Amino acid sequence: MDKLKIVGGKELNGEVSISGAKNAALPILASTLLTDQTMTISNVPHLHDITTTMELLGRMGSDLMLDEKLNIEVTNNNINEFFAPYEMVKTMRASILVLGPLLARFGEADVSLPGGCAIGSRPVDIHISGLAAMGADITVDKGYIKAKAKRLKGAHLILEMVTVTGTENLMMAAVLADGKTTLENAAREPEVVDLAECLIAMGANIQGAGTDTIVIEGVESLHGAQHTILPDRIETGTFLVAVVMAGGKVKIKNTRPKLLDAVLSKLRAAGAQIELEDSSITVTMDLERPRAVDIHTSPFPGFPTDMQAQFTALNCIAEGNSTITETVFENRFMHVQELQRMGANIKLEGNTAICNGVAKLIAAPVMATDLRASASLVLAGLVAEGETIVDRIYHIDRGYETIEEKFRQLGAEINRMPA
Ligand code: UD1
Repeated sequence: MDKLKIVGGKELNGEVSISGAKNAALPILASTLLTDQTMTISNVPHLHDITTTMELLGRMGSDLMLDEKLNIEVTNNNINEFFAPYEMVKTMRASILVLGPLLARFGEADVSLPGGCAIGSRPVDIHISGLAAMGADITVDKGYIKAKAKRLKGAHLILEMVTVTGTENLMMAAVLADGKTTLENAAREPEVVDLAECLIAMGANIQGAGTDTIVIEGVESLHGAQHTILPDRIETGTFLVAVVMAGGKVKIKNTRPKLLDAVLSKLRAAGAQIELEDSSITVTMDLERPRAVDIHTSPFPGFPTDMQAQFTALNCIAEGNSTITETVFENRFMHVQELQRMGANIKLEGNTAICNGVAKLIAAPVMATDLRASASLVLAGLVAEGETIVDRIYHIDRGYETIEEKFRQLGAEINRMPA
C-alpha cells in the first residue's frame, strides 16, 4: 500500500487548480444508464472511485471511451446485466446509485447492500422505501436489493432524513416514471443540482433542485447530452484549510466560491483573508496560528460533514478552545485518535470533539480509515514538526486527484512512497 511522506513546516504559496467534483461525477455517470444515446461528460476527476464506477458500468455492458480532451463518452445501448456485486459496492458505497436508473429504464435491478462502513452504519432504507412507493416490487435478500417494476409510477415522497444519494437515486428513478413525483425534504447539495442539470439536458422535466422540494414530471425517454461536472467544493475547502494552517498565499482556481459560504465564513473567523472572484478564491494567512472555530455539521447549506475532519486538524493547532459537533454521521471521528498521536489535545464526548489548540503537532506514523479523515492527517503532517508518514492513502486516492503533486506545487515537502 502506498504511503505519503510529509516534512512539515513549509508555507504554501502559488496557484492550484481544482478538479471536478467526485460526488457529482458518480451520480452523473450512473445517470447515463437512463438513455441509449451517447453521453459526453467533461471535467471528470481522475480518481479511484471514478475507475470503480466505470468498471461497474463496463461489466453491465456500457461502452466507455475517453476522448482526446479526457471527456468520458458513455453509450448504454447494449446493457445486458442489471447487477452490482458486493465486491464492488463494498469498496464504494456510491455504487448504490445505479439502482434508480436501472430500475427506471430496464425494470430490473439487483444491487448489493453497501453494509456498514467506517463512518457509521449508513443504511439505504430511504432509497428502498421511496422506490417501493413508486410501485417497485423490492426485497432485500441475502444482502442484495432485488427490484422489479413494469414502469415506475410518480409518487409524493417525504424523505425521513436528508439524504444526498437517496435524493439522487429517487430523482433518477422518477425522470422516467409515469406521472409526477414530489420529493419533500430533499437534499439541497450542489451535487444534486448538478445531477438535475445533467438530467434536464437529457430531456428530463425537473423543478426545484437546490430547494428541499423537487418536482419531477416523468417522460417516456431521455436522449444523449453533454455535461460538464461542477468543481469539487470539498477539494477546494481542503486546500483552503491547508493554507490557513500552514500560512502563505494561494490562489485556488477553477472553483465555485458560492458553494463554500459556510466554510469561508469559518476560515475568516479563523483569521484568513479571503478574496473572491467568479471562479477563484485567493486565501492569505498572515497570523502565526489560526484562531479556534466551533464547528457544527449539517446538510447543505450548513457546514459540510465532508469538511469536518479538516477543520478538526485546524483546531488542533489553533489558538484557543473549540467544539466540533458531527450531526450527519455517527462515528465520523476516526481521525481524532491519530491526531492525538501527533500531540493534539482533543477528546471525544459523544458526537462532539473538544479541542484545546496546541502550538505544535509532532510528526508520527498515522493512518486513517476513511477519505476525509486521511485528508486531515495530510493537513496535520504539513504543519507538524518532523516527518509524518500517512499510511493507507488509497482512501485519499478515492477522492483527491494527485494530492501530493498539487501540494508540492505550492511548496510543501510531500512525496508518495510506493508499496
Ligand atoms: C453523500 C456523500 C458524502 C457526504 C454525505 C453527507 C456522495 C457519493 N457521498 O453520502 O460524501 O458525506 O452525502 O453530505 O455523494 N441515511 C439513512 N437512510 C438512508 C440514507 C441515509 O438513515 O436511506 C442517513 C445516513 O446514515 C446518514 C445521513 O442519512 O446519517 C446522511 O447520509 P446521506 O446523505 O445518504 O449520505 P450519502 O448520500 O451516502
